[in-house]
Amino acid sequence: KTYRIAVIPGDGIGKELAPEGMRVLDAAARAAGGFSLEYEIFPWGCDYYVQHGMMMPEDGLKTLSTFAAIYFGAVGYPELVPDDVSLHGLLIKLRLGFDQYVCLRPSTLLPGVKSPLRGVKPGDIDFVTVRENTEGEYAGAGGRMHPGQPSELAIETAVFTRAGCERVIRYAFELARSRPRRMLAHATKSNAQKHTLTFWDQIFDEVARDYPDVKTERVLVDAMAARFVLKPGSLDVVVASNLFGDILTDIGGAITGSLGLSASGNIDPERRYPSMFEPVHGSAPDIAGKGIANPIAMAWSGAMMLDFLGEKRAGALIEAAIRAVTAEGTTLTPDLGGTATTTQVTDALVAKVNGL
Ligand code: NAI
Ligand code: MG
Repeated sequence: KTYRIAVIPGDGIGKELAPEGMRVLDAAARAAGGFSLEYEIFPWGCDYYVQHGMMMPEDGLKTLSTFAAIYFGAVGYPELVPDDVSLHGLLIKLRLGFDQYVCLRPSTLLPGVKSPLRGVKPGDIDFVTVRENTEGEYAGAGGRMHPGQPSELAIETAVFTRAGCERVIRYAFELARSRPRRMLAHATKSNAQKHTLTFWDQIFDEVARDYPDVKTERVLVDAMAARFVLKPGSLDVVVASNLFGDILTDIGGAITGSLGLSASGNIDPERRYPSMFEPVHGSAPDIAGKGIANPIAMAWSGAMMLDFLGEKRAGALIEAAIRAVTAEGTTLTPDLGGTATTTQVTDALVAKVNGL
């Protein structure tokens, strides 16, 4: 079996990490057997914008629509293109265009990695955030009026639809049911936001009736932010709206040691369109070109992609290789206190995949 993968390295360290991620994916495919990966690389991003005045071609979505999945590096180079233009012109276009309504972000403290939280050991942090990825506070509804006047104002309206809330909440329940602890907490702010978040709570409670075996909890988002820091071990699966999930998952990345470790999937669970797998971090212009970016988030995103494609064994091999490399602690990039290069860490990952 051959899977066609569209690779969009993007900008900055994305360009360095995408080929490294492909090396790890290929090693896992060889070691697990039974399938191979065929890549097509699309050089879209800020350089493309400088040449063509857009982040990707007009028919970009159509071109990508026939692939099994998209493997994405990072987008953004503020010296060349303003960030809101680059993000909306590529990444957000793909998330919305392919209705990738689930943004899946695991927060796992790896062996050998030090959390900035005191007294936390590997195994203590192991939860997943399911972020709504297509509507809510980022729906783009609103506008600005009376420019330059004393009455000048800006409005940004959150849009919560029944279908949009229900599908992502249901996905989170299914995920919670598949995990040993079977716990699902939802982030809300229905004490202050009396239209949208009360609606969200109501839909959550309705869907919960179909999952009596899952233990649920309603947590106000400010309390949830504190909870991520104070008692991350009490979390199993968290479901949140677009904005809340965006903010919470950065805390999730921080408490697990480095942004260079955080992986994510932008998923269309119905598989009508390709899903997209990418590190949580951006293009890191501050370290781009130095060959020291941590490839683990990219590799882990690849593991999530293989898992989603049904190649569970190959995905598990990559995860085990990542754990082995961080546990050993001898080959780590500077963000984890080491002195290794991107290529050296990738070599270590490939060696572990081959040796497992
Ligand atoms: P960033 O995630 O690129 O970098 C934040 C900090 O983390 C930097 O100090 C960077 O060196 C470090 N870092 C990130 N990834 C790392 C890795 N793999 N290994 C070691 N260190 C790593 O976020 P920043 O600086 O706010 O944004 C830079 C650009 O990236 C902007 O243009 C922004 O719009 C874009 N961006 C793109 C995202 C995406 O493609 N999904 C997500 C976040 C930002
Ligand atoms: Mg964010």
